[in-house]
Amino acid sequence: MSKGSYDFGLVGLGVMGRNFILNVTDNGFSAFGLDTDPEKVAALKQEGEGKPVDGTIDKKAFIENLSAPRKIMLLVPAGGPVDAVIEDLLPLLDEGDLIIDGGNSFFTDTDRRGDYLNEKGIYFIGSGVSGGAKGARFGPSIMPGGDQKAYELVKPIFEAVSAKVNGEPCVDYMGTKSAGNYVKMVHNGIEYGLMQLISEAYTVLKTGLGLSNEQLHETFTKWNQGKLKSFLVEITSEIFTKMDDKTGKHLVDLILDKAKQKGTGKWTSQNAMDLGIPVPTIDVSVSMREISALKDDRVAAEKLYESPAIPSVGLTVEDVEDALYFAFIITYAQGMTQLVAASKEYGYGCNLEVISKIWRGGCIIRAGLLEEMRKAFSKNNDLSSLLLDEGFASELNANAGAMRRVVGYSVAGGIPASGLSASLSYFDSYRSGRLPLNLIQAQRDHFGSHTYERVDMEGIFHTEW
Ligand code: 6PG
Repeated sequence: MSKGSYDFGLVGLGVMGRNFILNVTDNGFSAFGLDTDPEKVAALKQEGEGKPVDGTIDKKAFIENLSAPRKIMLLVPAGGPVDAVIEDLLPLLDEGDLIIDGGNSFFTDTDRRGDYLNEKGIYFIGSGVSGGAKGARFGPSIMPGGDQKAYELVKPIFEAVSAKVNGEPCVDYMGTKSAGNYVKMVHNGIEYGLMQLISEAYTVLKTGLGLSNEQLHETFTKWNQGKLKSFLVEITSEIFTKMDDKTGKHLVDLILDKAKQKGTGKWTSQNAMDLGIPVPTIDVSVSMREISALKDDRVAAEKLYESPAIPSVGLTVEDVEDALYFAFIITYAQGMTQLVAASKEYGYGCNLEVISKIWRGGCIIRAGLLEEMRKAFSKNNDLSSLLLDEGFASELNANAGAMRRVVGYSVAGGIPASGLSASLSYFDSYRSGRLPLNLIQAQRDHFGSHTYERVDMEGIFHTEW
């Protein structure tokens, strides 16, 4: 290929970057990679042999090889490295070139970078990319936000490389400014919630109902063929069959119970608080990762406290399936409501139908349920909560009994299930026309003259209690 003719540039040739660039070249476009590590460049050249792809450690050569306007995607760690690469490339770019940040950047960083680059005549897109290494290689879900004109430049490439559901690409324009990173952040918050809920269903089935790893595999495989059909349930079923090559035992039982995190779930919770939007299932999933990190304390505390006996009531595997389904709906509903609020607050112009559409494939939270969400938002794109959609209301009503049985069982048996409990409490609070928070208003007025409103007349009132 001649100089200045490559369609797409990619900076950061780690596993994600390499897989993404090979995906681009498999879909009719030529691509050029840049990395400071010559071994990574060599790995790209080797894996890309015979494809219209090349790589370099030299940023000038990289820039010279790209066709105008240049479309350069960064897949480098979020934070300082993104700013460093931008500063490095900036003097070599021409007006109208486009930089796309494909990492899990914090949304306010994206706004800052967008303003900075736009002033210099460079387009900037902050884009979520979900699906892990396999997704990057064979079809991720892509969530680009920023200037819509800038998105048009890269749209043909993104549509070609993304996952497809019924022929529809799992990529679309998410909205202005940092909408793409915001949508990806909430995707990850929902991801944390679903993962926590699955781990709780696992412990109820294992500790409570005594299922073996083989039975867990069969159960999750069956669930993945029904209403819980989803990527996370699918990989969970696979995990139970994996044997450790060092000991010959089930690998899942040998894994330390401390869950790490890189921060996107926490950001979702933190920003939900700023917006005044309750997302308790996501909040507790972040807290549970923090509690999991307190391994030494937990081991010490285990000796101090008695564990109640597992209840002898006839809880069934189907009850757990129904409860998990119920809690999945609640978790998505919380995330979607946060997106509606964020879109208004930050002026993103998000379309919830479009977001549901591109989450149906490629991403970590893909699930059969997303098609139902898409339908709900296509009927009413201003829906403030999925809980107000008639279809979801009837699903929740149908599964609420099982949800109560599973939460009751966990509480009685001392099985930690804070994600399931938080989901049920959220539901019970949301469906209550009257909550006991009139008493909180009375207390506030009693100790601090904070005033209250009344149900029977207009105005602001204060009482000398
Ligand atoms: C994805 C994932 C990915 C994320 C991992 C790990 O959509 O492909 O969300 O972006 O980095 O899930 O996240 P934690 O390390 O915070 O669990």
